[in-house]
Amino acid sequence: MSKNLTDIFKEMVEKEKVYAEALIELSEKIHHPVLRSILAGIANDSLKHSRFYEALVELVSSVQSVLSQEELRLISKEIDKHIETEVRMVKLVSEMLRKVDDPRVKLVLSAIYSDEVEHHRLLIDVKENLAKAETLSEEDIWNAIWRNSPWHGTPGG
Ligand SMILES: [Fe+2]
Repeated sequence: MSKNLTDIFKEMVEKEKVYAEALIELSEKIHHPVLRSILAGIANDSLKHSRFYEALVELVSSVQSVLSQEELRLISKEIDKHIETEVRMVKLVSEMLRKVDDPRVKLVLSAIYSDEVEHHRLLIDVKENLAKAETLSEEDIWNAIWRNSPWHGTPGG
């Protein structure tokens, strides 16, 4: 008997959590600072994926829209601050990248830089999609975000 999507997503919520815990446990035994933080970083991504799967459980099992007008107003109001924060982070990291010579430090800073650029891009996308969606119904808002999601059609995330 094949499982339905909701059950598969629910299993993945748990699998990603368990995997994250195992990685954190391993990372705590590693004394090399970069390797330890890479493992902890993958653990964080696994927790992120677990939350994505939680979102998918809701998405496929609920008929109600996930984004209310109140949430829409809250995000619209707050998002500029976070966009500014990410811009500051991108600038700070790129300044550090210019200053350092140690290739190991450069490598780690480059990884942070890529993440910050991605965070900035995601927040800009969310803001643009919300602006587009403001005149639409709640269901259309969600559809607009989903259709224009930067992860749409990509295996990553
Ligand atoms: Fe960031």
